[in-house]
Amino acid sequence: MTVIVTGGAGFIGSNFIFHMLGKYPDYRIVCLDKLTYAGNLSTLAPVMENPNFRFVKADICDREAVFKLFEEEKPDMVVNFAAESHVDRSIEDPGVFLQTNIIGTQVMMDACRKYGIKRYHQVSTDEVYGDLPLDRPDLLFTEQTPLHTSSPYSSSKASADLLVLAYHRTYGLPVSISRCSNNYGPYHFPEKLIPLMIANALNDKPLPVYGQGLNVRDWLYVEDHCKAIDLVIHKGREGEVYNIGGHNEMANIDIVKLICKELDKPESLITYVADRKGHDMRYAIDPTKIHTELGWLPETKFADGIKKTIKWYLENRSWWETILSGEYKDYYERMYKNR
Ligand code: NAD
Ligand code: TYD
Repeated sequence: MTVIVTGGAGFIGSNFIFHMLGKYPDYRIVCLDKLTYAGNLSTLAPVMENPNFRFVKADICDREAVFKLFEEEKPDMVVNFAAESHVDRSIEDPGVFLQTNIIGTQVMMDACRKYGIKRYHQVSTDEVYGDLPLDRPDLLFTEQTPLHTSSPYSSSKASADLLVLAYHRTYGLPVSISRCSNNYGPYHFPEKLIPLMIANALNDKPLPVYGQGLNVRDWLYVEDHCKAIDLVIHKGREGEVYNIGGHNEMANIDIVKLICKELDKPESLITYVADRKGHDMRYAIDPTKIHTELGWLPETKFADGIKKTIKWYLENRSWWETILSGEYKDYYERMYKNR
């Protein structure tokens, strides 16, 4: 079995590669990644020498490079993680989001059509459903919830999802889609809430909370997401969408306070800054379908997962300090100065 994993030098893709190489010693895993600012080859260092692993630096929008790779590898499956993934960056500059997230998905599926595939899997997000009100805790996203996006990022992901379903209906491509809630864990790029707060707290820098910090996200440990995708690509039904989430809703401010507590840092570091434009209020996944059909349940409780994550950032300072010292500095200036 040969699996092409796009975006495998990023946060979730790298964790997925580690999971797959560990669990399936007879699989060949080929990582296709452009190495944008969010991709980090050093993350894949532990598997670079693995004979079942190959890394290829290429853009998923580059038709020639993608088709050449399919020609060489004749993959059985593709799992498409490659994406521009940060909402704040999509608000600043939507263009690259449409290019990578939509056109890149089309190119990958065109290659699958041409060379044949057992499964094309699209890694999507709960953000395609828009947001839920804070005062209706009974409401959750199901696979039937209409797509109703808020940001250029979520709109590009929803567009890709529609294209994936169209390729299934029109060309019979064997596809599946998973829509997961917010992930956290090792190798999370420090522009996202949890790793940013850990890194800033460790450096005694202000912790910038948007608005009043009341927005709610539904957090899932990254390994649980990887296990869910593994189940969907092997046992999930073709043409189906599976929501992934572990009923773990938390307000941003509570997460930030928890990180302060775990690191023994004062809450006075918390700084309320201008809110994100169009900020989604609450996400919450109903994972009934993947549980009843495929038997998936999250294994890591948030209280344990956040401790493991903080420990990882403490033990792997050089991984994120290298990122912080590069072009990230300009990004941080741009995003947080005068906010
Ligand atoms: P990430 O930003 O950490 O990693 C993205 C990876 O894709 C990077 O390695 C980057 O180099 C690569 N990439 C970007 N553009 C590319 C291109 N044109 N060609 C090839 N490679 C390219 O993202 P992540 O958080 O690991 O998210 C992975 C996927 O999961 C995304 O599709 C995202 O929408 C989805 N998702 C993320 C979350 C989350 O909480 N992070 C939740 C649900 C779904
Ligand atoms: P983020 O990690 O960017 O994920 P997403 O927007 O895709 O859910 O942000 C998570 C939440 O944290 C979101 O409500 C925005 C908020 N946030 C802050 O309050 N401060 C920050 O510096 C960042 C990056 C996010």
